[in-house]
Amino acid sequence: MSPLEKHLKRRIALEGPMTVAGFMAEALTHPKHGYYVTRDPLGADGDFITAPEISQVFGELIGLWLAETWLRSGGPADAALVELGPGRGTLMADILRAGRMMPGFTDAVSVHLVEASPALREKQRETLAGHAVTWHESLETVPTGPTYLVANEFFDALPIHQLVQTDRGWCERVVALQGEEGFGFGVSPGSSPLVPLVPPHIREGAEPGAVFEVSPASISVLRQICERVTPQGAALIVDYGHPESAVGDTLQAVRRHKTADILSDPGTADITAHVDFDTLSRTARESGALAFGPVTQGALLTRLGIEIRRRQLVKKAAPAQAQAIEAAIGRLIGPQEMGTLFKALAVLPAGAQTPPGFEDSE
Ligand SMILES: C[S@@+](CC[C@H](N)C(=O)[O-])C[C@H]1O[C@@H](n2cnc3c(N)ncnc32)[C@H](O)[C@@H]1O
Repeated sequence: MSPLEKHLKRRIALEGPMTVAGFMAEALTHPKHGYYVTRDPLGADGDFITAPEISQVFGELIGLWLAETWLRSGGPADAALVELGPGRGTLMADILRAGRMMPGFTDAVSVHLVEASPALREKQRETLAGHAVTWHESLETVPTGPTYLVANEFFDALPIHQLVQTDRGWCERVVALQGEEGFGFGVSPGSSPLVPLVPPHIREGAEPGAVFEVSPASISVLRQICERVTPQGAALIVDYGHPESAVGDTLQAVRRHKTADILSDPGTADITAHVDFDTLSRTARESGALAFGPVTQGALLTRLGIEIRRRQLVKKAAPAQAQAIEAAIGRLIGPQEMGTLFKALAVLPAGAQTPPGFEDSE
């Protein structure tokens, strides 16, 4: 039995069944044995691949988006360029390279990475060698002031609670000990204190057995983002998820690019859930900020000029390389690939103009 499994079993034996959010947080970011803490999970030899690892064009276009929103908001000196969950540092490296095309941008910003994983911080240090970078455990320690922020596949790793509609009301799905060996799912005896986070139309209309996912951790991070981009700044959140809040169990585990059992061998598989963009947009508006989108990743990258960049790269490439570039870009924007499932939400201060790529999404 792994040390993390032993720890979780001891915790459940002492404190009783734990929420799905508690299990997810321990499995992913336990300070010693968590999935992200112990490894670099990205790439063909890892468990999954992300957009910046598929093509440099993703980060380049996001870099231009951040530089353009910086300019439109007055081009402040001493701004913070922030990334949440920077993986291998590839996205930030591409952002900084493309950002040089905007005069003054890279000189005006200091780079701040919010990263829980010591293993990935080491990778980021290698990738971003030559750049001045400050690491943070959370957004709280990033200096305040004008902030230009990106989070790609960060929110899907934040813990979610699963609420289940029962004849006792909305209860919590929990992880309990099952038999001698393993973990199993159960349902709490009493109703959940998180019921107020379920939108009224879902709270009242759901069938028995329906699951609704809520993520107080995501709401809290989004509120902090809103504070930081106000009065000057912008944030771009890209992730897989749904544009409207809806019932459904979206929790999944992935190991070696295949779906895995969520409760087996915790700490050795990635666990994620779909991001509820409806809740994030509502949270932004309730915080007094503007939310644009979500638009699909395919639409955003197309509007930001992926076609022009594709042509430039293909023109300079050898035939085999050109084919690889075409395939990678197809993966980013193809409707059957990442183009539709992945979505982007922009958060800007009240009064800001519509950011690039979100023109008809208000
Ligand atoms: C799925 S990876 C995405 C990596 C990168 N953004 C990319 O697109 O390649 C999730 C990232 O978020 C980090 N992470 C997950 N949970 C975190 C948390 N609670 N606080 C800070 N970083 C976290 C992971 O260590 C990793 O860098």
